[in-house]
Amino acid sequence: MSTFRFKEDFVWGVATSSYQIEGAAREDGRGESIWDTFCRVPGKVVKGESGDVACDHYHRFEEDLDLMAQMGVNAYRFSIAWPRVQPDGRGAYNEKGLAFYERLVDGLLKRGIQPFATLYHWDLPQALQTEQSGWESRDTAYRFADYAGKIGRVLGDRVASIATHNEPWCTAWLGNATGYFAPGNADLKKAAHVAHHLLLSHGLAVQAMRADGVKAPLGIVLNQSPAHGATEAPEDVAAASLEYAKFVRWYMDPIFKGEYPAEALQWYGANGPQEVIRDGDFDIIGTPLDFLGINYYTRIFASASGDKRPPGVHGFTDMDWEVYPEGLTELLTNLNGEYKLPPIYITENGCAAKDALENGRVQDTDRINFLDLHLAALSEAAQQGVDVAGYFAWSMLDNFEWASGYDKRFGMVYVDYETQKRTLKDSAHWYSEVIAEHAAAEAAR
Ligand code: FCB
Repeated sequence: MSTFRFKEDFVWGVATSSYQIEGAAREDGRGESIWDTFCRVPGKVVKGESGDVACDHYHRFEEDLDLMAQMGVNAYRFSIAWPRVQPDGRGAYNEKGLAFYERLVDGLLKRGIQPFATLYHWDLPQALQTEQSGWESRDTAYRFADYAGKIGRVLGDRVASIATHNEPWCTAWLGNATGYFAPGNADLKKAAHVAHHLLLSHGLAVQAMRADGVKAPLGIVLNQSPAHGATEAPEDVAAASLEYAKFVRWYMDPIFKGEYPAEALQWYGANGPQEVIRDGDFDIIGTPLDFLGINYYTRIFASASGDKRPPGVHGFTDMDWEVYPEGLTELLTNLNGEYKLPPIYITENGCAAKDALENGRVQDTDRINFLDLHLAALSEAAQQGVDVAGYFAWSMLDNFEWASGYDKRFGMVYVDYETQKRTLKDSAHWYSEVIAEHAAAEAAR
């Protein structure tokens, strides 16, 4: 096991999201989300699977919290299903839905685990999609701010942090430009409009929560990668720069610099966000943050010819994503130079692997190697001056991996979906040791 050097009070966590684990899709007054709808569209999700039952976490959360305590993590990142607490995305709140998250948060606190909440991990109330085309509409940003204020009032004094969005790039791009995710649009201009409204909603939500006196640190979670050209030829280098602008800077620049990157704006041309930007939007989007969450899985590999298969020196995961740990150090040190940043959490990092339960054990050596390499890369970034406050492994449990269904296993805990039995994988035991070793080193300091 490598030795990692992180600051005092480093946060060691695991992460999940509502639609991927909760199940109980039609219980206790939960409204429909765009993912419920999307999963019913033939061909969208592998084997036509859905989050209807998932890990049945809604009924088994106490057992899951016990497992976290057993692993020794000191933080848990989860998301709140908007349609569970406000079924139509506007108007009345659902007390039973709110009560579930109160029980979850109290259960964490009771076990000494810090709750890190995310307000939006892609499960938009279907009513907002049906009535006003979801995030294409500016009004959805205001609905989101109302919902954020409500969560702030209910949970804001008990949670360790609140993130507005998880990976707005996925919602905008995969949901609206490629149609790979809900709501399934394939229209570049819609994607640009959606991205702008997501950013706007983020700023409005932070402002609403602050106005309500929420004391918990507030931030956003972005998926990021460094981008590399396939060769050093100028056209490949330019392709990488453009991909970085579309993927990373498209979100970072508005939040931390008050503008979209010119390079990507030019690429969007007439399909860009210009029609929906109003005076003052960038002031709202740039509302100061207490932390930035970064989800890191792989790098972007770009070439002008479109041939993008990276060399994969460290191999590929079961998602066929290249294992590229050094990209995490590169990304973070670059960001640190480019922007004035608040403290950073790695809010997701992990890999899918072909895990098998044999004689009560899952020997997921590939996952241990993956996590070990990435923690070392993160530790290196911290040594190079990046303010790294914590790390969350994706994921606590095997779960519903969106368009890939249940085929792809990301968990440190194995889930047998027939019986809902949970089994700690070798990686979970390894992670416990890493956390304990860090605590011992800190105590000895
Ligand atoms: C991220 C998502 C998360 C999970 C991982 C594998 O993009 O935030 O829900 O699907 O990828």
